[in-house]
Amino acid sequence: MSEIWLFVISFATLLCATAARPPHNYLENHFTAENESEEVRSAAIKRLLEVFGMEDPPLTRGHKQPPQYMLDLYNTVADVNGVTKDPYLLEGNTVRSFFDKLRSEQVEFRFNLSTVARSEKVLTAELHLFKLRPQASVSFNRHHFCQVSVYQLLDSSKLNITQEKKLLSSRLIPIHSTGWEVFTITQAVRAWMADEGSNLGLQVVVRTLGGSQMDMKLVRFASGRSHHQSKQPMLVLFTDDGRRSATLESKDPNDTPASPSLPQVPMAGGASRSARSLDYSDEDGVSLPCQRLPLYVDFEEIGWSGWIVSPRGYNAYHCKGSCPFPLGQNMRPTNHATVQSIINALKLTKGIETPCCVPDKLFSINLLYFDDDENVVLKQYDDMVAGSCGCQ
Ligand SMILES: *[C@@H]1O[C@H](CO)[C@@H](O)[C@H](O)[C@H]1NC(C)=O
Ligand SMILES: *[C@@H]1O[C@H](CO)[C@@H](O)[C@H](O)[C@H]1NC(C)=O
Ligand SMILES: *[C@@H]1O[C@H](CO)[C@@H](O)[C@H](O)[C@H]1NC(C)=O
Repeated sequence: MSEIWLFVISFATLLCATAARPPHNYLENHFTAENESEEVRSAAIKRLLEVFGMEDPPLTRGHKQPPQYMLDLYNTVADVNGVTKDPYLLEGNTVRSFFDKLRSEQVEFRFNLSTVARSEKVLTAELHLFKLRPQASVSFNRHHFCQVSVYQLLDSSKLNITQEKKLLSSRLIPIHSTGWEVFTITQAVRAWMADEGSNLGLQVVVRTLGGSQMDMKLVRFASGRSHHQSKQPMLVLFTDDGRRSATLESKDPNDTPASPSLPQVPMAGGASRSARSLDYSDEDGVSLPCQRLPLYVDFEEIGWSGWIVSPRGYNAYHCKGSCPFPLGQNMRPTNHATVQSIINALKLTKGIETPCCVPDKLFSINLLYFDDDENVVLKQYDDMVAGSCGCQ
């Protein structure tokens, strides 16, 4: 993980030297100036894609509006920079949304799950249906509630069974209500993931409390065919791809970044004076104590703005500065670093450098993006933002 981290740092440093936003053709110029081949550039981009768990960038087409549910979810879990607000909000690290492919006039739906990786563990699957108002002509009715049931369609010939559908979820819903209704259908999606061919879709049946089939004019759900895109039936999958952080990530909910957009006050004080008195100079000829500095990773510069919905980029921060003797508590030294700085100061052993200024707390970021099949995905990536720096 630290290797990945270092890569992001070094790569992003190239992109965003001294945090100024470079011009559009900066990457190209930069690499030719250094006489680096196009191969190096594409290898770097490929490696960065791997950090984001992808082999190739998703195809970018003229994109639709992302579902409001996914935008709201993103804004709930992430701040404006994409940094996770509360690491406990999501159970897994991936949320995928799918639109119905059947677009039938019947209350039947089918979702194509081919973009879900085999390795992804399905934690919860939800069918989101938008209930429309009953048509005015039938709005005077003796019923107040209806029973809405969601069935998984089965291939009875193949499974050697008699029933053609299996009940997944059922609920009483007020007839005059309007808005989103959510049904849990996890079992069915797990079955479809295990055997893609078994995915024959879902059927929704509405009955009176007495059990008789209800007039579909009275209880209507928006369909992908005849209603606005914002009301389309949707499958929402909460999954986990098993990618986990190294140990650095803060798991204390009270320890989320206070204001990640603001650069931290440098850990200066006495340390900075002692740093100068030791006449330590970094490559810019400026003496700085170990501190966190901005490092903006701009997805547009990388050429990813076509498929990433949010954020446009994020501040990864980077750690820079010296860790000279004596290391104050504001330098957040490990005991090992303290001893190393003492050995260095006493020159007891040859070739022992001062400790390094590195991230000692990392936060995750969230990406909202379109996948190859134009489904909107929210994914959380651990260890992407330096929360603080220390001497190690
Ligand atoms: C880049 O390197 C190649 C050899 O690898 C050389 O032929 C070429 O002149 C170099 N270009 C520049 C601009 O230095
Ligand atoms: C699902 O989508 C993939 C890729 O878009 C396609 O290749 C496949 O045929 C689709 N499956 C079904 C059952 O429509
Ligand atoms: C289907 O069930 C019948 C009896 O219930 C049995 O004789 C037959 O072998 C089964 N076929 C398969 C393919 O399991």
